[in-house]
Amino acid sequence: MKESELQNEDVTRRSILKTAGIAAAGAAVLISGLKGKARASNGTYPQVKVSNIKDLKPGKAVKFDYPLVGRKNILIDLGCAVEGGAGANKSVVAYSSFCTHLGCGVDMDKESGMLVCECHQSVYDPKQSGKVVEGPAPNSLPMLALEVDKNGDIYAVGVAGLIYGLRNNLLDGEEVK
Ligand code: FES
Repeated sequence: MKESELQNEDVTRRSILKTAGIAAAGAAVLISGLKGKARASNGTYPQVKVSNIKDLKPGKAVKFDYPLVGRKNILIDLGCAVEGGAGANKSVVAYSSFCTHLGCGVDMDKESGMLVCECHQSVYDPKQSGKVVEGPAPNSLPMLALEVDKNGDIYAVGVAGLIYGLRNNLLDGEEVK
């Protein structure tokens, strides 16, 4: 990838962080597309392989833990380009599965294509950086930074926003390797 493309990618990631409200969450995460790593105030996010592009089908969710064991996330190929999407088609996104209201599980609703909480039915839009479109959730879902290598392997490299129930995304548990 050319340096100008890398810089553009870096700018896109920074705008994702803004959209996801990271400053408000106080998590102070910066993502560097040049180094393929994300940094938080108290450490560096691990780079963890979570899937491969060819194993994803539009609308079918893949679950994985990141950055801590037990901290579930949901990876989706939306089938169309979206802001902050990864991969050649810019269609792959991942979010924390912990609802920002009270931490219940959020899952993909196949009919609507939205991410819906099982407890009080908050609805988040995966095409709009995990924005809340129906309450009572107060904030967007934390969005994961993803990188895709030339083999199509997808890596989680950071989290934009504080995951529900944690004081620090990196220190409040055992890191996924
Ligand atoms: S815990 Fe998700 S809406 Fe209440």
